[in-house]
Amino acid sequence: MMAGVALETYNQVERNALADAMEVMVRAFDPAFGEAWTLPQLSGVMTMPGTWLTIARLDAAPLGFALVRSVLDECELLLLAVAPLWRGRGIGEMLLHDSLRTARRRGITSMNLEVRSTNNAIRLYEKSGFEYVHRRPGYYRGNDGQLHDALSFRIDMLP
Ligand SMILES: CC(C)(COP(=O)(O)OP(=O)(O)OC[C@H]1O[C@@H](n2cnc3c(N)ncnc32)[C@H](O)[C@@H]1OP(=O)(O)O)[C@@H](O)C(=O)NCCC(=O)NCCS
Repeated sequence: MMAGVALETYNQVERNALADAMEVMVRAFDPAFGEAWTLPQLSGVMTMPGTWLTIARLDAAPLGFALVRSVLDECELLLLAVAPLWRGRGIGEMLLHDSLRTARRRGITSMNLEVRSTNNAIRLYEKSGFEYVHRRPGYYRGNDGQLHDALSFRIDMLP
């Protein structure tokens, strides 16, 4: 865990928090894979009850974020991102584990996610206890029109 990194969670649309997440978003996702969201998409999902956004900051600067949507006792990790210069220092793991803790605290008993089959993040998910569920062929469309498979992962948590 990186010293000095603070996590803050938002449960509804807050303009500054969305701007911070977008600052990371535009740098974190390779456009080749079509995984990044736009501000209207992010803001739209934040209007849905049960969605939360957690931002990792060092002083005021946003370094990463996690976005989770929950329905009843299940949730989905929609996005996890760390700015390229800050990777490999445990910030992604910190955000993921915080999301799992928040979910448990809210009475949620499972978390699902989809990840591109060639994404290194799979190591982080497996290391954190997620289990492979199935493959979705051609789930992501890159900016060159090429399709990429997604893998679904799930973790069950004791209530
Ligand atoms: C995935 C991502 C969030 C990881 O963030 P991070 O802060 O670098 O991750 P951490 O430093 O906490 O690493 C945790 C573990 O993830 C795995 N990992 C992360 N990046 C890796 C890489 N490039 N290669 C191999 N393993 C990697 C490792 O198992 C690592 O644990 P270890 O250091 O003990 O081996 C970051 O790489 C990212 O933003 N990627 C682009 C966006 C994305 O694809 N997000 C996931 C899908 S939504």
